[in-house]
Amino acid sequence: MAIGVQSTDINEHFNKLFTAILLEQQKFDKIKPADEDKKELITQKLKEYETLKGRGFFYPFMASGRGHGPFVELIDGSVKLDLINGIGVNLLGHSHPIYIKANLEAATSDTMMCGNLLSYQEPYELSKVLLDSVKKSRLKHFWFSCSGSFSNDTALKILWQKKAPNYRLIAFQKSFAGRSVAMQDVTYNPAYREGMPKSVQVDHVPHYNAKNPENAIKETIDALDKLIETNGNVYCGLSIELIQGEAGFIFGTKEYYKAICEWSKKHGIYIWIDEVQSFTRTTEMFAYQMFELDEYVDIVTIGKVLQAAGTFYTEELNPKAGLIAGTFNGSIASLNAGKATVRYLTEGNFYGEKGRIKDLENKFKAKFKMLAEGSCKGKIPYYGGIGTMLSFEVGDGALEITNKFMKKLFENGIISFSAGKEPTRVRFLLPLALLDEHIDHIFSIVEKTILETIN
Ligand SMILES: Cc1ncc(COP(=O)(O)O)c(C=O)c1O
Repeated sequence: MAIGVQSTDINEHFNKLFTAILLEQQKFDKIKPADEDKKELITQKLKEYETLKGRGFFYPFMASGRGHGPFVELIDGSVKLDLINGIGVNLLGHSHPIYIKANLEAATSDTMMCGNLLSYQEPYELSKVLLDSVKKSRLKHFWFSCSGSFSNDTALKILWQKKAPNYRLIAFQKSFAGRSVAMQDVTYNPAYREGMPKSVQVDHVPHYNAKNPENAIKETIDALDKLIETNGNVYCGLSIELIQGEAGFIFGTKEYYKAICEWSKKHGIYIWIDEVQSFTRTTEMFAYQMFELDEYVDIVTIGKVLQAAGTFYTEELNPKAGLIAGTFNGSIASLNAGKATVRYLTEGNFYGEKGRIKDLENKFKAKFKMLAEGSCKGKIPYYGGIGTMLSFEVGDGALEITNKFMKKLFENGIISFSAGKEPTRVRFLLPLALLDEHIDHIFSIVEKTILETIN
């Protein structure tokens, strides 16, 4: 079905423009230092921006809007290999044809953003594609929001209304749920809510203990039982971030999550899975599918790679009119990109044990192993993760050495980010646009940087 204005003339221009943009963007295909005459540009602009924003930046980074696949150009003319892609947003890589097309298609529409009162075709079509991808579960509805935090707020409100007055929530230690007033309480790290009044009663239980896997289920279930024993069953839900991103990609096993879900069901506590970061990034479209939790999930939240955000919920949890609303579903371009991304990933060979995502994971882990057992012996005490969510430790994993390493890695041409505390890990959120030659190059830079950082 045609969306926006259409004509032979528009179509011809569309095709020409699409090709011309792609050809220009494709020129950014290797790491490159800053141009001599632009070397100071980023420092100057960021200094000014810092005064506007009131806060400094971790990296001297300002994008030029040019880049292709894993490569991104900065305004000083340097090109970096981007392994964090907007903290997990650009899974397909920079200037992917899907992103270019989504923007051009949006330009044929009469509006920029669309919302809940007067609907457009884009949110309707994206909802269909999304709900199609969760068919094996009981999830029946999808509600758009404009951030992962807000999709989590929606989840919490739905649970509160259903279980009122049981407003208490269970979450996992080390989890991250976002920055809204409610989500700062669901998030484990107290440094993120310094000086804040408590607005949500959340009890954090230990997550999967990889150092003692035989006891992991018992450890968590004992803590859950203790909560009921102490407080009574006053809980509306159990929030699970299956692959804990901010913690450095800590995750349990199928058996572990199934045992937790069984416990939750036994106590009539709803299961809410936060997939804001993990959506599309593991070896199935949803991490809950990879852990075979389809029968258990009651609420699932997504964001990031979708280029939009939202909340799936079951028929039973459909809230009363008035509880959830809001001006925006998202921008037309974002919703276009979301639909095309989900379709592309569903129809291509990305998921399962033989899919591209598992292949990337295996290739990265093999390279880490080679370094950890070879030239960087004793300097990479940990590497791991799942799918396109990988992390590793450098030296003793202290924050200081990890930051030093990441800044050197940036200077050497690769963008990463940290996760976790004691130890702090270096986090890679891989784009799918990586080729084998890129991976070889990445690891030669990682090796050089580790040797430069730790003597
Ligand atoms: C697991 C998880 N939940 C929620 C959020 C919050 O999403 P947003 O930053 O879009 O509000 C994030 C963001 O990093 C996340 O990783």
